[in-house]
Amino acid sequence: MLQLIYVSTARSSETIDLDDILAKSRRNNRRDGITGLLHAKGRRFLQALEGDVVKVEAAYARIAGDPRHFALVVLSRRLVEAREFGDWAMATDDGSGTAVAQVGKLVEGAAPSVRGTFEGFAGMRAA
Ligand SMILES: Cc1cc2nc3c(=O)[nH]c(=O)nc-3n(C[C@H](O)[C@H](O)[C@H](O)COP(=O)(O)O)c2cc1C
Repeated sequence: MLQLIYVSTARSSETIDLDDILAKSRRNNRRDGITGLLHAKGRRFLQALEGDVVKVEAAYARIAGDPRHFALVVLSRRLVEAREFGDWAMATDDGSGTAVAQVGKLVEGAAPSVRGTFEGFAGMRAA
């Protein structure tokens, strides 16, 4: 299956409703067998998507065309044997000081470089 990780920046002109994004994402992802993690820090997003290659690429194409964010940069696109981010239709953290621990748990099974990226992002947030 495909694991795709990207970062993006929220448009400053938009008021980002994370709950709305998550609700829709989880509905779609459940339908498509996609799981992953969405990390939001200030205006920055870091997201991991895992699932069937065609489904993940289709979801990413939709996400990339979403005017609520821009400057998407794919950090990693690799085939994985099993999900590394758990079974969440789209996990996130609540922005509290426990973000590092939460992300740490979710990325326990991920490749070292992937884990480092997420832990670094979460750590910056907690700092
Ligand atoms: C940061 C961010 C992450 C998103 N993540 C997902 C996602 O994981 N799955 C998804 O279907 N849509 C996601 N979306 C929403 C898509 O951009 C798009 O609005 C949605 O897929 C459209 O669904 P619909 O065609 O069913 O209305 C995300 C949007 C943003 C801004």
